Amino acid sequence: MVRIGLLGCGNVGRIIATHQDGFTVEALYDRLPDHAEELARICGAPPYADFQEFISQDFDICVEAASVLAVREYALKVLENGKNILILSVGALSDSYFRKALINKAREYKKKIHIPSGAIMGLDNLKVGQISRIDSILLKTTKSPESLGMQVTTRTLAFRGKANECIKQFPKNINVSVALALAAEHDVDVELWADPAVDQNIHDIYVTGEFGEANIRVVNHPSPENPATSYLAALSVLSLLKNLDSPLVIGS
Ligand SMILES: NC(=O)c1ccc[n+]([C@@H]2O[C@H](COP(=O)([O-])OP(=O)(O)OC[C@H]3O[C@@H](n4cnc5c(N)ncnc54)[C@H](O)[C@@H]3O)[C@@H](O)[C@H]2O)c1
Repeated sequence: MVRIGLLGCGNVGRIIATHQDGFTVEALYDRLPDHAEELARICGAPPYADFQEFISQDFDICVEAASVLAVREYALKVLENGKNILILSVGALSDSYFRKALINKAREYKKKIHIPSGAIMGLDNLKVGQISRIDSILLKTTKSPESLGMQVTTRTLAFRGKANECIKQFPKNINVSVALALAAEHDVDVELWADPAVDQNIHDIYVTGEFGEANIRVVNHPSPENPATSYLAALSVLSLLKNLDSPLVIGS
């Protein structure tokens, strides 16, 4: 059974800790101690107010569900403490210096960095971009204005440009664009739309390349307990953890 330590006890953290299937939660950490303590009361795992104490506990993989800044602050330390890491705030890896440092550290300590599919589908087979020509990747994301911190009354283009620029402006909202870029090893063009008529997060992905073309639309239902979080993102972490120990590996 895989043992995890949970870094970030917010919306996604709560779903992970309350659906322990194929893994167990051994330790909780959040920069806001009351978040970790509240989740401890629900799931029974011990909360730690000190990061070093948290990371010294006996578990196999640290599951990050906190923020891009938390990845910058803790990911190297996680690996140095002999733990694998699962990174949901994958936007942190858009900085190539940081990404290389992290990968080198993982190599040095013989540990893995897992990136879940998050709030999209199709990430697995996009890795063909690492061995075959990709011509273009466009991600059109539509969210409610509130979730983007905007106040608009009509559908409005909030950003158009490259993924690594978009994540700087919207670090909480466009992690999937960085995941796409990493999987395919190719630039991702992003259009981010604020639409007062939607209450779901919608991702339209268009890819062309030597393989042909793919158009994928993912309409994310909000989490049952918290509308701000795409349920699929939390589910993708649960399925990754459940399958870690499985002898049958599905997907490229
Ligand atoms: N890859 C994807 O598709 C995808 C999808 C959804 C969410 N996310 C990302 O996952 C992360 C968690 O999402 P959420 O909805 O649970 O967010 P949330 O705001 O509900 O919870 C985040 C928790 O992490 C804690 N935290 C934040 N920064 C921290 C730090 N530096 N150190 C320790 N704790 C810290 C917060 O106090 C909070 O309790 C976010 O960064 C979000 O952008 C990624």
